[in-house]
Amino acid sequence: MIYEFEAEIIEKKIWSNKYCCLSLKIPFDKIELKPGQFFMVKVQENFPLLRRPLAVMDFEESSLKFFFQRVGIGTEILFFKKVGERVRILGPFGNGFSYPEEKKKSVLLIAGGRGISPIFYLAKKMYEHRIPFVLIYGGKAKEDIPLMEELEENSFNVVYVTEDGSFGKKGMVIDFIEEIVKKKQISSIYSCGPVEMLKKVSYFSERIDIESLISLEIIMGCGFGACWGCAVRIRENGKECFKKACVDGPVFKSEEIVW
Ligand SMILES: Cc1cc2nc3c(=O)[nH]c(=O)nc-3n(C[C@H](O)[C@H](O)[C@H](O)COP(=O)(O)OP(=O)(O)OC[C@H]3O[C@@H](n4cnc5c(N)ncnc54)[C@H](O)[C@@H]3O)c2cc1C
Ligand code: FES
Repeated sequence: MIYEFEAEIIEKKIWSNKYCCLSLKIPFDKIELKPGQFFMVKVQENFPLLRRPLAVMDFEESSLKFFFQRVGIGTEILFFKKVGERVRILGPFGNGFSYPEEKKKSVLLIAGGRGISPIFYLAKKMYEHRIPFVLIYGGKAKEDIPLMEELEENSFNVVYVTEDGSFGKKGMVIDFIEEIVKKKQISSIYSCGPVEMLKKVSYFSERIDIESLISLEIIMGCGFGACWGCAVRIRENGKECFKKACVDGPVFKSEEIVW
């Protein structure tokens, strides 16, 4: 079921003038939502024309959270919204993450930068389903891994990684995954983040033959399958074809993606 509604901003938190979390009061308390699904947000009435896709970062008692990075005109307008203002929202869209079949084995969740948004909600759902997990959360510097407080509140098992070593382990996320996968006997990997990171996670998963699901952040037009603006090259039954990230994804098996 796809809804279109106006939602009031009831809480706002910002970090380093760069990242923002908006909590919105939505007119439903029960809505079927899978981690990895997203909404198309109309940031302002007349401009920009196209809505912007944002993943669900959290949903509880009719309060929906979006966490986003300020990158361009749309996220800039959203960033300066005040508590009490309203935004128009359409969704939920996309397939979302599926849970692992073997629920007793640990899974590895990987978030790079703003990719933490859908991974945070996935972590909450994994916790509720009693699926053990390790979350690895990386960014360029400490300011690029802003959701620490929220993760600690939920007592998740998180490994922090920064490229400049300003917090947690120094390096790239990819430098630490092999060690974690071996030590924790990980059965599958779920990730979201920059394309370069996802590509490396995908090659790693292929090399060690482990199930791997990836949420792609593709530029989108409509968000619901009408424009082909979100085409992704996919390998299926040995042949290459295009699929739509908004309806066939944004979560794909990493082995299907042609990088
Ligand atoms: C399914 C999905 C879920 C997403 N969830 C989140 C989220 O939870 N939090 C978050 O911060 N971002 C998320 N994104 C990315 C977010 O949609 C873009 O950052 C946003 O649309 C940029 O809009 P803008 O108007 O600020 O930037 P624009 O002015 O349109 O563009 C500014 C820059 O951002 C790049 N850009 C634009 N759109 C995208 C896009 N869709 N993906 C990657 N780069 C883009 C452009 O190439 C350009 O370099 C998601 C994207 C998708 C497809
Ligand atoms: S965004 Fe229009 S078809 Fe996917």
